[in-house]
Amino acid sequence: MAATAPRRPGRLEFVLVRLWHAALVGGFVVAYATGDEDTYAMHLFAGWLVVALVALRLLAGGLAPANSPLKLRRPNRSRLLALGIAAALAGVGIAALTGVAADALPFFEHLHEGLAEVSLWVALAHVAVAVAVFKGRKWLARWRSAPAAALLVLAAVSPLMAAEPARDAILAAYAAQARAADPAFAGWSPARGEALYRSRNAVNPDAPSCASCHTDDPTRPGRHVRTGRAIEPVAVSANPKRFTDAEKVEERFARDCKSVLGRVCTAVEKGDYVAFMAAR
Ligand code: HEC
Repeated sequence: MAATAPRRPGRLEFVLVRLWHAALVGGFVVAYATGDEDTYAMHLFAGWLVVALVALRLLAGGLAPANSPLKLRRPNRSRLLALGIAAALAGVGIAALTGVAADALPFFEHLHEGLAEVSLWVALAHVAVAVAVFKGRKWLARWRSAPAAALLVLAAVSPLMAAEPARDAILAAYAAQARAADPAFAGWSPARGEALYRSRNAVNPDAPSCASCHTDDPTRPGRHVRTGRAIEPVAVSANPKRFTDAEKVEERFARDCKSVLGRVCTAVEKGDYVAFMAAR
């Protein structure tokens, strides 16, 4: 008997749908805005979040009981709205998936960028349809919780802006080398890094110091003393790409330490130097 009585959806389900929607909007906006390599860690995080949210939504939509707002197919929904929802979900989901694929296969990179642009327009069209269908009033009520949830997503991903996993990995490798050479190694010193940077050496009269090319103020662009070519700032605050490509870092340390100091730098010197630049 009870089984035939129409089930009334709980309030929680409506809240879940709204939170999910706000998180998806937040994740998409963050991913869209952070495609540049400077903010790559955030881009990855937001992209994976979108993939997870779309997967979760499809799963919930399939498993939810009839009559639930979690159901994706809802018979009394306007055709146009249903189409807009399906297109937005597919567009955003596929754009995010090609991003995941591009991480492993660079071949997908262009496709991903193209689809990301397309999915933005599809999402905007979906908003326009929703506004038209709900004619404003109901729509506003539905979106009350969206700004708060979007802020929550931003707060969750913002620490990734500061932490640069690639740079941390480079420093971790130097720390392992430093400990192997001296078990008493006690961590990096930006002050020692600065002393090395500013030290003047007799080996190379053209370039007695790191500052000869990288300038006294590492937040400013430098200039190669011999070739006259411009060098981007070496301080991380001025140039967040610095010390994120392990191969390049090693290559430059080898070359620049040799030419300024007449010898290779130790792991401690390299780590101190990176720590100094990261603090700048
Ligand atoms: C003769 C000029 C010159 C001098 C002197 C010099 N560098 Fe460089 N350095 C360069 C150039 C050129 C690059 C590569 C261009 C770039 O990264 O913008 C570079 C890049 C680097 C990088 C790579 C940073 C990154 O983005 O990964 C490191 C590390 C570095 N230098 C360390 C040093 C250290 C340590 C000293 C002093 C012992 C020093 N350099 C002195 C010219 C110089």
